Amino acid sequence: MCGIVAYKGPKNCYPILIDGLHRLEYRGYDSAGVACLNDGKISITKRRGKVIQLEQGLKTDGKFQNCDGPGIAHTRWATHGKPNQINAHPHKDQSGNIVLVHNGIIENYNPIKKFLKSKKIKFKSETDTEVLVQLIGYFFNKGKLNFEQSVRAALQRVDGAYAIVVLNKKEPDVMIAARKGSPLVLGVKDNEFFVGSDISPIIKHTQQIVYLEDSQMAIIKDDEYKITSIDKDVSLPKKVEKIDFKIDDYDKGKFKYFMHKEIHEQIDTISNTITGRAKKDRVYLNGLLEYWAQIKEADKIFITACGTSWHAGLIGKNLIERFAKIPVHVEYASEFRYNKTLIDNNSVVIAISQSGETADTLAAIKKANEHGAITVGICNVPGSSVSRETNCGIFTRCGHEVGVASTKAFTAQISILYLLALKLAASNDAISKASLRSHLDFSENIKKIKNVLKKENEIKKIALKYKNANDFLYLGRGLNFPIALEGALKLKEISYIHAEGYPAAEMKHGPIALVDKNMPNVFIVPKDKTYDKIISNIEEIKSRKGKIIIITDSKDKILRDLANDLILVPKTNHFMFCHLATIVLQLFAYYIAVGKNLNVDQPRNLAKSVTVE
Ligand code: M6R
Repeated sequence: MCGIVAYKGPKNCYPILIDGLHRLEYRGYDSAGVACLNDGKISITKRRGKVIQLEQGLKTDGKFQNCDGPGIAHTRWATHGKPNQINAHPHKDQSGNIVLVHNGIIENYNPIKKFLKSKKIKFKSETDTEVLVQLIGYFFNKGKLNFEQSVRAALQRVDGAYAIVVLNKKEPDVMIAARKGSPLVLGVKDNEFFVGSDISPIIKHTQQIVYLEDSQMAIIKDDEYKITSIDKDVSLPKKVEKIDFKIDDYDKGKFKYFMHKEIHEQIDTISNTITGRAKKDRVYLNGLLEYWAQIKEADKIFITACGTSWHAGLIGKNLIERFAKIPVHVEYASEFRYNKTLIDNNSVVIAISQSGETADTLAAIKKANEHGAITVGICNVPGSSVSRETNCGIFTRCGHEVGVASTKAFTAQISILYLLALKLAASNDAISKASLRSHLDFSENIKKIKNVLKKENEIKKIALKYKNANDFLYLGRGLNFPIALEGALKLKEISYIHAEGYPAAEMKHGPIALVDKNMPNVFIVPKDKTYDKIISNIEEIKSRKGKIIIITDSKDKILRDLANDLILVPKTNHFMFCHLATIVLQLFAYYIAVGKNLNVDQPRNLAKSVTVE
């Protein structure tokens, strides 16, 4: 995980690096650090905690104003070693010449550490990263290799995934960046160079971007740069792309937390995602045009993703199977990448990712590409790795999602999957024009989101009643089973309360053993064909004294009688009901976490984008 930003150019690097770190903080926020080469010396500042603490530290130390040399910076999500100041990046080698930031994991750090210790090299931190910088220092300090050769020699000996940027005070005019597995991007502008884990810290400075490919190095010397492979010092073509993309500035508006703001934005983000793509009885997904002939012929579709995006995938399965009658297999990307999945060059693999940088999802795409499948990305971030590595794709148009708990991206993902299912159905004559027209008429239904948001105070009151519960069950059927999973995940992530989602009837096969008078059970109950069945499931819990919270579009008395608390959402269609129930569950989780005084935007142990395996 972790975010990297680096700068080499005539300006003071600190403001550029700190602004970049704020933009990258979604990748991890255990600790942060910055190193700058100034007057032949390396100056390192690190802080445990958030970037703001680092920024304050730099200001207090009077460093912020001034650095004329290159600088590197990092925000960390701990993998090896506790999240403390010593383990924070940048790390130095023993001689103090070399300084490095790293994203990824050095898998063979143990034998290398043993070797370096046998050469009397002492370690200060518990990190795998320090092993790499010490190895570079070991080669450099022997005196036979220059800086670039030393970096190359060290990288050729490490296994695992990495993106790094390195400086050397003995060669202050050189900055080296390299990647294997983890993404790294170079921005160029006259005599200025920017490096980032993604374009977010760079794009406001330059639109000229070089996406480093796997196993490539960028060596920036004075006002020039070259791209080579890690293995050989042979210059490769510089593939500079002009990226016409603006990143919004962070602004919480009237809200205390981004998550809250993002929940409220959903009426717009769903509309933006659909606008221009659903017209009367036609669906336009232009990003798929080039491959549509093959996609519509697929006799099986695979969907792969992680976390919330995987829940969206389950909804996608239900919708594609229901409308287009094409079997869909949904698999966690972390499993897909290693399982013997039966994909070949007739397969269509849909990868869903908000960030577009999730390591497992990228590995799954890589595998699908290697098997010759057509890969389709559903992603929120233009220019991200998912959007680049897939053959074709569709963007959710949510704008920046800052809160670690995904909210608006989820409802946009399921909207795209709805459109895709309907387009497939239309292409395969599996749906009538009239039915298509009615499914594509979102206008009235989207407005109903407003009615749900107006119920915020009511949802808040109910949430606060349950904030001290230790365990929750979330239960739904059909399309609402993934919504139950998503509701449970939201609660776990931000409130640290244990919660599980189940198909409502499956609860009898085990989870019911947990039910007692203290346990809240959240039932998602649309008035559809499983309505009567789900009432029986509620009765089963009720008779074991479990607390019942119901989200429904039905005004039936029987539900009021069964429920300890009931949240009524407006009548709509099956699909829109999922959106409405999701928003209720997002607010429910939000108010429980806020009621417990937790930072809902940056929950403990999590990061917005999971860029390690
Ligand atoms: O960026 P991605 O959609 O690929 O991220 C996948 C998961 O890491 C993500 O959905 C995670 O589960 C969220 N924190 C959920 O709120």
